[in-house]
Parts: sequence; structure tokens; C-alpha cells
Amino acid sequence: MATVPPRWVVLSSGLLLVVLIRGYVQAQNILINPMIGKGSHFYVSAAIGEELIHRGYNVTFLLGGAFYDQARNSRYGDMFHWEVFQHPIPRKTVHDMFTNLTKLILGGGFQQEMKIMTELMTARVNDCTALLEDKYLIGRLRSANFSAVLYDMTWVCGAMVGELLNLPTFVVYPYPNPCLVTSSQGSHFHPAYVPSFMTPYSNQMKFNERVVNSLLYILGALIGHYYYAPYIGLTKRFNVSEPMLLMANSKLWLVNTDNVGEFPCALAPNVIPVGGLTTRSPEKLPSDVDEFIQGSNDDGIIICSFGSFLILDQNSLRLIRVFSEAFDRLPQRVIWLLKEHPPFPIPANIKILPWLPQNDILGHRKTRALFFHGGQNSYYEAIYHGVPVVVMPVYGDQKDVGARVVNQKLGLKLDKDLLTAEILYDALHEVTTNITYTKRAKEMSFAFRDREMKPAERASFWIDYAIKHGTHHLEIPLRRLNFFQYYLIDVILFVLLFVILTLYISFKCLMLVRSFICNCHIKSKLD
Ligand SMILES: *[C@@H]1O[C@H](CO)[C@@H](O)[C@H](O)[C@H]1NC(C)=O
Ligand SMILES: *[C@@H]1O[C@H](CO)[C@@H](O)[C@H](O)[C@H]1NC(C)=O
Ligand SMILES: *[C@@H]1O[C@H](CO)[C@@H](O)[C@H](O)[C@H]1NC(C)=O
Ligand SMILES: *[C@@H]1O[C@H](CO)[C@@H](O)[C@H](O)[C@H]1NC(C)=O
Repeated sequence: MATVPPRWVVLSSGLLLVVLIRGYVQAQNILINPMIGKGSHFYVSAAIGEELIHRGYNVTFLLGGAFYDQARNSRYGDMFHWEVFQHPIPRKTVHDMFTNLTKLILGGGFQQEMKIMTELMTARVNDCTALLEDKYLIGRLRSANFSAVLYDMTWVCGAMVGELLNLPTFVVYPYPNPCLVTSSQGSHFHPAYVPSFMTPYSNQMKFNERVVNSLLYILGALIGHYYYAPYIGLTKRFNVSEPMLLMANSKLWLVNTDNVGEFPCALAPNVIPVGGLTTRSPEKLPSDVDEFIQGSNDDGIIICSFGSFLILDQNSLRLIRVFSEAFDRLPQRVIWLLKEHPPFPIPANIKILPWLPQNDILGHRKTRALFFHGGQNSYYEAIYHGVPVVVMPVYGDQKDVGARVVNQKLGLKLDKDLLTAEILYDALHEVTTNITYTKRAKEMSFAFRDREMKPAERASFWIDYAIKHGTHHLEIPLRRLNFFQYYLIDVILFVLLFVILTLYISFKCLMLVRSFICNCHIKSKLD
């Protein structure tokens, strides 16, 4: 007769099993390496990090020393672990450089933009060298048992860290136009109906626009190699793959775009649209901001936010005066993001703040419009909260956002070089009084929100999925094909050859038959 084990044995062995499983199912560690830690790039990655924490991950951020103050961020400071690399230049110089770049952007044209690109790239390569040279840091990262590295597309160094640590890399792409940048994964970028990067075009282009768009696309492919050339020294020295290949090897692409606001195009299966990462339900506002908004009565408020692009200097002082004059004429109150107070009196309906809880203010029911520079995050925050916009692109991808705003009829676009107080006032007046913009904003908001998962949740879900199941079943095996195979040149040549040969042989046969018949004919005649 089998002996039934006493009850306490069953219970305690169950308990032991639970303890064992608990001990075994450790939190997975993940390393997030956003650019160097500045502004919008940081917040995009941080939103994903926050959701990974909710999924039980242990998240570590790797930042440049000049941005270590993010570790004291009231929201994220205690949530993540922090690792820091030292810049080869003093921290103050890093910040000065960004300030100088911002001034150049507002002041200058194409040449200035090129200069900025070059300076930024040099600084990034120097930062990357310092990071990879730091043996102690790399050693610590190696022993931290990470499952994967998530890096920002603008900071290819993150992919180098991933390869050095022999980890799969995932990448977050913070800009518009997801198909162009992920064509390395098999997404379909077609210049006939997808506008190239940094163009003001929509997806319905006239002939001349398609010409320029196609040329820009080809130029873009060539510039890519030139753009990453400064990293080549690093790839040899640290024995990692070259930048373009490193990025193409990334397993999962999280693109900060959504079809509700983007021109649709076909994405590869390992490219996940997670546009609007920084959107969330509004939280309680600081009391002074809340009082200011409540005091606007039925007219409501307008937000003016140009990120770090408006600094008080000779270049932007003209713009700041123009803004102030236009705002003065509005019935609404205006909340204006500006680091310093201008050196002239400001109308009473304006509140200047050095920092904005922008997402929370956008979510306030008295907010009527957003006047902004076309930042990708602000664009999706406006869509999420259903607020119409006036956009004045300043630099780079902001032109793309401007084109999307106009195409979606979410608001109006202004040219910074032609701006007057009159033009700005008219635009803000039109957007706040013509009901079509508000209606469109509400429609977009509804379509954007009507989903199972929020963008950051979707991002963390896919990261978790990729870690659990791998991504081999999501990847299009593009890199197994060489140039001739990819464009089917070998197949076309083969088919052509076959057709030509067939024609040739048929022709020869016909000739043979003909000569045979003719011969017979002649023969019979002769007979
Ligand atoms: C590393 O992490 C994995 C997954 O979380 C875990 O199974 C493994 O035990 C860890 N290894 C060490 C040495 O901590
Ligand atoms: C989380 O990761 C950090 C490394 O950045 C490590 O020091 C810490 O022990 C990890 N925590 C857990 C619970 O694994
Ligand atoms: C920033 O600009 C100032 C004045 O134009 C210049 O003296 C300084 O060297 C610049 N700093 C950097 C880091 O480029
Ligand atoms: C409102 O805006 C729409 C779209 O731009 C325009 O077609 C319409 O004429 C405007 N309505 C008024 C009353 O101005």
C-alpha cells in the first residue's frame, strides 16, 4: 500500500519549489544608451525604460557625464540604475557647444547646418572613443549580465557597446520617416510616394517634387557613408563592425512614428511603430500654472514651446519681440517656454517659464493651441491630446513634421524667415477660431488612442518578446543577398539570355525549314 506523505511535507516542498523558482526567474537586465542624455532623445528612451520596469526588468542607463543630472530627475532618478562615461572635454564646454549650435541654427542657412552636423559628429566620435577606452566602465557593463542593449539611432556608439559586450542590440529611431531609415531591414521606401528626409513634401508629389525627392533619396544613401566615416578609426581600433553594418544588424527597430500622423509606408516585420512615446494622461499641474490657466476664463490658453531653440541672443531677440507682439493681441493667455526673461516688458497675458510640463498642460481642457518648432515628440503629444497647432520649423527633421501638420490639416505652418507679428497673430487666430482644426485634432486623437496598448507599452512588449523568442522569424534575410541578387540582375540576365537563345534557335529552325521547303520546291520544279 502506497504511503501518503504527511500534509506538512507536501506544503513545505511546494513552498521550497516557489522559493527555487523565484530565485531562478531573476529580473532580466537591460542597458539603455540614449544619445548622450539630452532633451527629447532622453525622454523617448526613458518612456520605454519606465514600461520595462513595469514588466519587471532591471534597467540601467548609460549617459555622458554632462547629463548626469538626469539621475536626479524626479520621475526617473530612482527608477533606473545609472552608468556614466566621461567626456574628453569639460562638462561646461559640452553644454556651451549645444548652446552655440542652437544659436547657429536660428541664425544661419544651409552652410551653418552643415557646419553643425560636422561639429556634432566630431563631438560624438570623441565621446564614443572616451566611452570605449574606459576599461573599468566596459568591465562593469560586461559583468552586469545584460540581456540586450537599446540605443538611440543618432548614437551609433550604442551599437558598438552592444557588439563589444556580445549582446543583441535594439534601436530606437526618434525622427519622422520610418521607411527610409529601416530600408536596411527590408522596409519599402519608394520616392514616388514617400517624401525623403528633411523635405517639406507630402505623399502626393508633382513631377518636379518627385524629381527632387528621388535625387535626395540617392544623395541620402551616398551621404550615409560620408556621415559615418569619422567612426571608421574606432571600428579598426576596437575591432567592431563598421557603423552602417552595426545598425543594419540591430534586431528590433522601434520607430517613434504612427500612421495617424505619418505618411504610411510598408515596414519590415522587425520594425515596430511606437510613435508618441512621451504621451501620457495629464498629471496635476504646479499650482501657479494651474491658477494662470484657470484665470484665462473661456478664452483658454496657447502654449508656445520651441524647446532649446529660443535663447536670448542677437539672432533670436527679433523673433522673441515678434512673438510677444503677436501674443499681446490674442484674447487667450499664453504659456511660453523660455530659459530667460526677455530684456523688455512682457504683456500681462503671457507667463514665461524656464521649463514646461508640456504634456500635462496640453491635456488641460482650456488649452486651445500649441505653437511650436515641429519637434517629433511635441507633434504626437498634440495629436494625443487633440490640440491643433501652428508650426514654425527651425532645423532638420522639423521640416518633415511641418509637412505632416499641413497634410493632416492639424494646423498651419509658418516660415521663420518671413515671420511678422501680423502673420503669427493671423495663424494663431485662424487655428483657434476656425473649428475645422480643432475637429481634425479630436479625430486624430481618437484614432491615435483607440488601441490596445500605449506606445511605450508596445515598445516594452516587443523588447520583452524579442528577448524571449529572438527575432529570427521577424527578419527579412536581406543581407544574404548581394547587389546582383537583390535587384534580380542575375535572374533578368538569365531570362533575357533564355529569350534571346530561344528566339535565335527558333529563327534558325525556321530558316532551316524554309530552305528545306524551298529546296524541295526548286527540286520539284526542276523535276
Ligand atoms: C544572467 O541573466 C540570466 C537571465 O536573467 C540568468 O538566467 C542568469 O542566471 C544570469 N547569470 C548570472 C551569472 O547572473
Ligand atoms: C540591476 O542592474 C545593476 C547594474 O546596472 C546591478 O548592479 C543590480 O544588481 C541589478 N539588480 C538586480 C536585482 O539584478
Ligand atoms: C561658443 O561660442 C563662443 C562665442 O562665440 C566661443 O567663445 C566659444 O569658444 C564657443 N564654445 C564652444 C564649445 O564651441
Ligand atoms: C477653415 O479652414 C478650412 C481649412 O483650411 C477652410 O477650408 C475654411 O474655409 C476655413 N473656414 C473659415 C470660415 O475661414
